[in-house]
Amino acid sequence: MRQAGRVLPEYRAVRERYDLLAITHQPELCAEVTLQPVKRLGVDAAILFADIMTPLIGIGLDVRIVENIGPVLADPICAEADLARLRPLEVEQDVPFVLETIRLLRQELPPGIPLIGFAGGPFTLASYLIEGGASRTFEQTKRLMYCQPLLWHALMERLAGIVSTYAQAQIDAGAQVLQLFDSWVGCLSPDDYCRYVQPHTSRIFEPVHGVPTIHFRTDTSALLECMAEAGGDVIGLDWRVPLDHGWPRVGAQRAIQGNLDPAILLGPWPIVAEAAQRVLERAGSRPGHIFNLGHGLLPDTPLDNIARLVELVHDHAGPSPAAVGEAR
Ligand code: CP3
Repeated sequence: MRQAGRVLPEYRAVRERYDLLAITHQPELCAEVTLQPVKRLGVDAAILFADIMTPLIGIGLDVRIVENIGPVLADPICAEADLARLRPLEVEQDVPFVLETIRLLRQELPPGIPLIGFAGGPFTLASYLIEGGASRTFEQTKRLMYCQPLLWHALMERLAGIVSTYAQAQIDAGAQVLQLFDSWVGCLSPDDYCRYVQPHTSRIFEPVHGVPTIHFRTDTSALLECMAEAGGDVIGLDWRVPLDHGWPRVGAQRAIQGNLDPAILLGPWPIVAEAAQRVLERAGSRPGHIFNLGHGLLPDTPLDNIARLVELVHDHAGPSPAAVGEAR
């Protein structure tokens, strides 16, 4: 449940004193914030507290994370000369605090609760760099993609290189799962996805060995097959596709993550429980289902609904590996 932190009073208390980037720069505080949803809600994994823009800020891009908006770039990328600003990432020099946070978390997390490292997908990163911020239509991004395909591919190549280096460094530091968030790629047709994005995304997944990978994005009803082909041991499904319709389309050999609509959690508990049961029924207790929301938690979500949802899923699934480990 991404962004579980922001519904927690203890996270809000930290945010009153520090902004998001300041938290990520202090490994001890960042580890504490990463652990908050695990401690309070009893979820089965921790997701590193960082942002998809972290490595790009690390190489010197002027990005701010604005509340209720997301990343905003002072000087968007629009021409070939701008590529020089995307130099390769030197992880130990550019984002040492990320590696330090991961090392601390591996000492602090109980056995059986894995740490998920993550990175932004190349299309989503490119869209923030080209638009200068969030977009509904991705006009500038698509314009550059169609009008300047050579520049587009050069930009995507650089981003894939940065993401790949960043992902591998997180795994080497101790991340036990890698999740790639290509959140906004659902705005493309399957043909355009295959031509303009897939080769770059495959380049990120191919060299990852030894840890499971999760490929996440939203609004991808039309793209599930190409998304699976691009890579990921686990494919994230959002609520727009019924789980039992989406799973065969990505292939029975892959695991599935999803797919409750986070907005359901704004409703009364019986509605939440019914929708969660429906997701579980559609998964049919097949191995390889990670129960999750189809996107991040909304800030106004009642805490009680989230805690009860975790309990409902645990009751359905039986004892967690962590609980089994403790009993031994
Ligand atoms: O889940 C977690 O808390 C782990 C850390 C995490 C953050 N961002 C911290 C954050 C993760 C995994 C992300 C990924 C991320 N960031 C994505 C991909 C996943 C997705 O949601 O599609 C994207 C697109 C971003 C860019 C971004 N950063 C957005 C869209 C926002 C939300 C703006 C808003 O306030 O609605 C952010 C800010 C952000 N990043 C928050 C957190 C916890 C918001 C809360 C805060 O300001 O404290």
